Amino acid sequence: MRPASQGKAMSQWQKLGVSLIFFFQINTSWGQSAKIEPAQFLAGACISCHTLNTTTTSAIPSLVGVPSKSILSDMLDYANDKRAGLLMPQIAKGYTREQMEMIANYFSSLEPL
Ligand code: HEC
Repeated sequence: MRPASQGKAMSQWQKLGVSLIFFFQINTSWGQSAKIEPAQFLAGACISCHTLNTTTTSAIPSLVGVPSKSILSDMLDYANDKRAGLLMPQIAKGYTREQMEMIANYFSSLEPL
């Protein structure tokens, strides 16, 4: 047993666990649809916190119908540490600019519930 590598392995498992949770959430909510678009798949990671329901008040704002430019610039600011946040700086760093654009376009194209 090497404690150092063991610690690293744990965090890999934790990451896998998080990915699996998102995977199953996406599959259970959209399992019936014939094909999941890549943008919708990427955005699925956001809706666990950013509700799709615009009629409820949430501490974390819904991204439904928000202009894509606004979402993209917020994401870039979080990723480049130009905007502070509890969670988003960490999350935004996990996406390429192209993926951020896909996600931003996806949310802006949604109609409020
Ligand atoms: C674990 C919960 C969580 C996830 C997942 C998450 N967010 Fe956030 N988001 C937050 C929180 C909390 C804030 C408020 C800022 C902060 O504390 O980081 C926020 C703020 C934002 C804002 C700024 C909103 C505003 O009006 O100020 C945008 C844009 C955003 N998130 C986009 C995204 C996108 C795109 C994704 C998916 C790639 C995502 N978030 C995933 C929790 C989350």
